[in-house]
Amino acid sequence: MGEAEKVVCVTGASGFIASWLVNLLLQRGYTVNATVRDPYDGKKTEHLVALEGAKERLRLFKAELLDEGSFDPVVEGCVGVFHTASPCYYAVKDPQVILLLN
Ligand SMILES: NC(=O)c1ccc[n+]([C@@H]2O[C@H](COP(=O)([O-])OP(=O)(O)OC[C@H]3O[C@@H](n4cnc5c(N)ncnc54)[C@H](OP(=O)(O)O)[C@@H]3O)[C@@H](O)[C@H]2O)c1
Repeated sequence: MGEAEKVVCVTGASGFIASWLVNLLLQRGYTVNATVRDPYDGKKTEHLVALEGAKERLRLFKAELLDEGSFDPVVEGCVGVFHTASPCYYAVKDPQVILLLN
């Protein structure tokens, strides 16, 4: 099976780590099943659909961690799953403050 035929799933695809994963996987020729909570929210998906190879090999799916079974059709047939979807809460608004805390 060539890389182009291999399908991988990335959950929480709009997120920081997942976006880099999607980029790398597309660069390496994989087809990526990417989950977001709202595929129609352009603010969260436009950077993904703009990636090289996305037009041909990126598929966006709606999936929510609290909805049992919503990831089932997305992972079906995948050779691997990168599960990064997770709620991340920040108590501060200014990203500079987060950097200082770390
Ligand atoms: N960033 C780091 O430096 C770092 C370091 C070590 C470990 N981690 C871990 O890696 C994971 C991802 O981190 P990140 O920084 O990439 O986080 P992030 O940017 O907040 O991405 C997480 C993604 O999860 C999705 N999500 C949130 N709640 C969800 C729900 N209820 N159902 C489905 N999807 C949901 C969100 O996407 P939508 O709202 O678009 O669906 C969001 O884009 C986390 O577990 C984090 O603790 C991160």
